[in-house]
Amino acid sequence: MQPASACARRGCIPWQGILLAVSLLTFWNPQPTAQLTIEPMPVDAAEGTDVLLLAHNASENVLGYTWFKGDMTERRHQIVSYSILTQTATPGTAFSGRETIYPNGSLLFVNVTQEDTGFYTLQTTRNDFSNEVATGEFRVHELVTQPTIQATNTTPGSVVMTCLSDDSGISIMWIFNSRTLQFTERMQLSQDHSTLSIDPVRQEDAGEYQCEVSKAASSSRSDPFRLAVICEWPPTSGLSVGAIAGIVTGVLVGVALVAALGCFLLHTRTGRYQGFSPPDPTPGRHTPASTPGEFIFSHRRPGAPSPAP
Ligand SMILES: *[C@@H]1O[C@H](CO)[C@@H](O)[C@H](O)[C@H]1NC(C)=O
Ligand SMILES: *[C@@H]1O[C@H](CO)[C@@H](O)[C@H](O)[C@H]1NC(C)=O
Ligand SMILES: *[C@@H]1O[C@H](CO)[C@@H](O)[C@H](O)[C@H]1NC(C)=O
Repeated sequence: MQPASACARRGCIPWQGILLAVSLLTFWNPQPTAQLTIEPMPVDAAEGTDVLLLAHNASENVLGYTWFKGDMTERRHQIVSYSILTQTATPGTAFSGRETIYPNGSLLFVNVTQEDTGFYTLQTTRNDFSNEVATGEFRVHELVTQPTIQATNTTPGSVVMTCLSDDSGISIMWIFNSRTLQFTERMQLSQDHSTLSIDPVRQEDAGEYQCEVSKAASSSRSDPFRLAVICEWPPTSGLSVGAIAGIVTGVLVGVALVAALGCFLLHTRTGRYQGFSPPDPTPGRHTPASTPGEFIFSHRRPGAPSPAP
């Protein structure tokens, strides 16, 4: 822009006069009305996600921004600086290549790692060469690993599903057919929510179960586990006992689960029960117990040791 005179109704004032007036105003400004603050978005982030450090209320006469790692403004911790005059960003020694500074002073981190956890300081340089400094902090949390569901039925007509997770300090939620599970009086949750028992199982319980573990900023859902209920226990309809059969399968998780309700045994004993072929190439194992009236089934991950007979 060409230096020019400002012309008002009463005449022209030389531009130097305006500048002087502006700097006097800046100088005499008794208290800065707004203070520079940093808002991390989010404060708790999961590994691999992005974090934006928003710079709020920077004064209007800012000429440049400089970001530092840590609660300090030491040159060797400088990440990046931005000059409003030249509209250029200059990386510093602490620049990782994952930071982007915006013309409004905000700093974006992509693909954060746990080492990024900590304080970040923004220093602004104003046109009167004074500085303003503000610090913000964010934390990066490890991702939780994907849980798996293991199911057993220890008594005929019931099923116990357990959410297996490698993480500690997690919270667990159960999902049925992609929605939060609605509990019925036939269901029971262990205190830590890792075990869901349904006793007795009914046709309406058939569907896909998932558990979701979450911790700090991350969460993970198990693969769907399909529960098929072919017969109810105890028999509620007028079906003859021999016609009742129950199957529990987990076909979507790479394992098959075989559940036998009491009614299976009738088939077995009469020789009519042919077993069934799980639709999955890695079948689960089902082990008939020696005592009639019991039928044990187990659900194993591929490669897990065989159940004890
Ligand atoms: C910016 O400053 C104004 C005035 O002091 C204040 O009301 C507002 O809350 C500040 N905003 C932030 C995000 O700090
Ligand atoms: C600064 O600019 C970035 C990118 O355009 C935007 O996402 C952010 O909201 C802006 N920050 C503020 C405080 O307005
Ligand atoms: C994110 O960072 C990790 C290492 O921390 C790296 O393995 C991965 O490739 C990065 N992802 C992207 C999209 O840059």
